[in-house]
Amino acid sequence: MVNYKDLGLVNTRDMFKKAMAGHYAIPAFNFNNMEQLQAIIAACSEEESPVILQVSKGARNYANQTLLRYLAQGAVEYAREIGGGKVIPIALHLDHGDSFELCQSCIEFGFSSVMIDGSSKSFDDNVALTKKVVEYAHKFDVTVEGELGVLAGVEDEVKAEQHTYTRPEEVQAFLNGTGVDSLAISIGTSHGAYKFKPGTDPRIRLDILKQIEERIPGFPIVLHGSSSVPQEYVKMINQYGGQLKDAIGIGEDQLREASKSAVCKINIDSDGRLAMTAGVRKVLMEKPAEFDPRKYLGPARDMLKELYKHKVINVLGSAHHAFD
Ligand code: G3H
Ligand code: 13P
Ligand code: ZN
Repeated sequence: MVNYKDLGLVNTRDMFKKAMAGHYAIPAFNFNNMEQLQAIIAACSEEESPVILQVSKGARNYANQTLLRYLAQGAVEYAREIGGGKVIPIALHLDHGDSFELCQSCIEFGFSSVMIDGSSKSFDDNVALTKKVVEYAHKFDVTVEGELGVLAGVEDEVKAEQHTYTRPEEVQAFLNGTGVDSLAISIGTSHGAYKFKPGTDPRIRLDILKQIEERIPGFPIVLHGSSSVPQEYVKMINQYGGQLKDAIGIGEDQLREASKSAVCKINIDSDGRLAMTAGVRKVLMEKPAEFDPRKYLGPARDMLKELYKHKVINVLGSAHHAFD
């Protein structure tokens, strides 16, 4: 058993309390490899933003659970180096945990926070599973995110054609029944790069968010599927041989608005994937003789870092709040 505190990580409780009071949101950036991790830590350390390093089940399988633990510990030391001895708050979070056993294993390998996603189950089954995870996690002071409502698109390998928006009248009972520390909701965001059909209204349901907030004032809310799909990256990818058609994300203005509310955590994965892909494609197309991975992963990592800086400064508002 590795305790996350021994790795220099923190859980999300204090982060969310401060984000709620300061009207900003904590970035939850997904990563799978060293370059993504370097970009996240460099951007957040330089901008003094707290950060949640987010790992999906697939990412954990890809990177290896033991390596991940040392990567996270290394991330803390890397942040210390950049911060001249000061370390931004860093949480290591399981994204979309789909079983008690996976959450338990992550906690044993040094995660400071886990999501148990029972959103595709019945309300009662979701409550029962989430409660079981909370009871285990809290023994180790690990925080737990639950989810109510189903995002359209692929989630937990289940494909939903339509959003099932979170029902505000259910949230209080879910919190009472589970004891979760934060709640992911469905208000029109979705995973991936194709969030809206061209010609449809690309707005999320901030009105439902408001109703939820009124039911559970001061409780941390999480938004999944919050990539904005910057068109500059889509264009670059297509210019350098890619084929992304009609990729549309969530407007940054809507995310900025949500960050000022009880939304304390905003999940971003696809935008990072787009930035990296654009960077790699550009080098490989412009320099077809290049075969040193550092020569194409390095520029891609630089683009990623700029993207994350932009997010924490202009979208989530978390820059300069690391040491509040
Ligand atoms: O919500 C899903 C995240 O973007 C992680 O995706 O399961 O392909 O790693 P993944
Ligand atoms: P995006 O696909 O919009 O980046 O969402 C990521 C996410 O919600 C991870 O849990
Ligand atoms: Zn998600």
